[in-house]
Amino acid sequence: MEARTPRVAILISGRGSNMEAILRNVRAGTLACEVALVVSSRPEAGGLERARALGFPTAALDARGLSREEFDRRLRALLEPLRLDWLVLAGYLRLLTPEIVRRYRDRIVNIHPADTRLHQGLHGYRWAFERGLASTWVTVHLVDEGIDTGRILAQAEVDLAGARTVEEVERRGLAVEHRLYSEVLGQLFQEESTEGGAP
Ligand code: GRF
Repeated sequence: MEARTPRVAILISGRGSNMEAILRNVRAGTLACEVALVVSSRPEAGGLERARALGFPTAALDARGLSREEFDRRLRALLEPLRLDWLVLAGYLRLLTPEIVRRYRDRIVNIHPADTRLHQGLHGYRWAFERGLASTWVTVHLVDEGIDTGRILAQAEVDLAGARTVEEVERRGLAVEHRLYSEVLGQLFQEESTEGGAP
């Protein structure tokens, strides 16, 4: 079968440091995929500017005043013509509706700043810091209908020894996230290009 390059959209809501790490690897040729769009659920997200500066197409949907269902209908309408193989969530702060999860079943990936079996939802680094953990694990997982409940694809340990502030915990964690996410995506995309794309 002819190899094909996976087409992906990256979904963000804020700063976009994970997105930027991915885009830099795509630009450098060390992560083989076509980023068809970076979408933000917040027009003011700093990540949009970062993506534009790197020359990638961006779009913003404004969630204010919209129901979850209406927002995701608009998101689907935006994504559908792009013929995507993967949705890559990178600091995307909204829970996807079951309709989107079904449409891209097992093709939505997220990165979480903790072990998803121990901590779900927001503030994973604060959670680790307040418990005084000696290390924490960041997780790349598939997205299902729950909050950080999808199948774990990979985890990496973050050494927290001597970390005195939550900012330091986050700084160390993000450095690990930035490496791990592209590694895992690279593996997924490689399997994709040898097996064929989305149905
Ligand atoms: C990261 O810690 C990620 O694990 C979590 O949200 C944060 C996003 O940061 N899901 P950034 O926008 O990628 O800088």
